[in-house]
Amino acid sequence: MDVIRVEGGHKLHGTVHVGGAKNSALKLMAATMMAPGVYHLSNVPNISDVGLMGQVLTMLGASVDYDETQHRLTIDTSAADKWVTPYELVSKMRASISILGPLITRFKHAVVAMPGGCNIGARSIDQHLAGLKMLGVHFDNDHGDIVADASSGLKGALVTLDFPSVGATENIMMGAITAKGTTIIENAAREPEIVDLANMLNKMGADVRDAGSHVVEIHGVDELHACDHTTVGDRIEAGTFLVAGALSADELTVEGFNPVHLDIPLRKMEYMGIRVERGENRVTVCAPEKTLVPADIQTLPFPGFPTDMQAQFMVLATQANGSSFITENVFENRFMLVADLIRMGAEIRVEDRHALVKGPVKLMGARVKSPDLRGGAALVLAGLIAEGYTLVSDTFHIKRGYEAFVEKFNAIGAVMAHIDMPD
Ligand code: EPZ
Repeated sequence: MDVIRVEGGHKLHGTVHVGGAKNSALKLMAATMMAPGVYHLSNVPNISDVGLMGQVLTMLGASVDYDETQHRLTIDTSAADKWVTPYELVSKMRASISILGPLITRFKHAVVAMPGGCNIGARSIDQHLAGLKMLGVHFDNDHGDIVADASSGLKGALVTLDFPSVGATENIMMGAITAKGTTIIENAAREPEIVDLANMLNKMGADVRDAGSHVVEIHGVDELHACDHTTVGDRIEAGTFLVAGALSADELTVEGFNPVHLDIPLRKMEYMGIRVERGENRVTVCAPEKTLVPADIQTLPFPGFPTDMQAQFMVLATQANGSSFITENVFENRFMLVADLIRMGAEIRVEDRHALVKGPVKLMGARVKSPDLRGGAALVLAGLIAEGYTLVSDTFHIKRGYEAFVEKFNAIGAVMAHIDMPD
């Protein structure tokens, strides 16, 4: 099996470039189903989730071509004529549920396997379905498949979300863009990836207003067309490298994203004593000489502290001089890396959605297992500062969301390698 071996104790320096946001690219790909034509999506990361979404589109009759050197996708949905997505693909990647809104808009029908939960939580989609129902979609559950029927037409409505769900906001937005009349989504999610999607939809001829605010307005249009679009930079990939820099860099610059999209994590790092220099599309950090100041973190929907940065900050908190209190408000089970961090010497106590992290502790290299995408990345970060070697298995989690993770780290001074170990 593939394992990432990290040799601790090497200082990072230089510049690392991040790619397009996984959590935007997947939705931009789904959106291409809404209007037949040829789309060119740039700054698309070469990660396994993009490959999976490409398979979903291909199974629906689209042609998908990825140019690895250019990080560019060419998608032709002219011949797409199916609206049934297979369980085996949807169960591998929850984000496939983002195809629901587009299929309803294009075909007025959709059959999408009900996505299962994943290890970070139940990942319910009740808000997606409730919102689309308000637009006039009828749903049945056929042996685990969601069967959507909008043949009686889609009409604009006022949709108020219980929770600013990223996926629900996106699906309802895409289901509303050709509905008759105006749709208002209240308590909408405000993530930068939603703004990126709205920008692409408007290039396709849609009329989406105030995406990025809590109240998004969609004025139904009759016609949509293909377009070209460049994916917004990945703020979470950037944040992951910035935490690595805060842990062990003389000076590390991370470029290719908008620092405004990472404002609260950057302010937390400054509070902890890390030097943070913001640029136009880059940030430079340096590990502080003296030990870090502990910081409390509450994960919240954007612009709150992002849940996708919680695991990485937990590693940083192990190096702070005192106790840091971490509260995970978004997902119900996102502390799974704690057991392995404790095996590496961390002092962490978990109670329900709270984790108390005591530091500073000297971490020791160990054999550990990626529990999920961000937890796996965080264990690699722990390996950077641990004494000796850290062997991180189940690396498939990491490959879902990070392109060339090991290669990018080695280019800035880390000593890591993919090694093959017996299962
Ligand atoms: C997106 O997931 C991201 N994934 C997640 O990133 C990210 O953590 C999350 O947004 C929050 O920012 C993609 O974009 C592919 P939600 P999503 O709907 O859309 C509950 C990563 O590591 N909920 O905002 O699934 C849900 O159970 C991944 O890159 C309902 O109860 O997030 C969760 O507890 C992990 N009913 C919370 O809301 C619903 O209908 C947040 O979910 C929808 C959501």
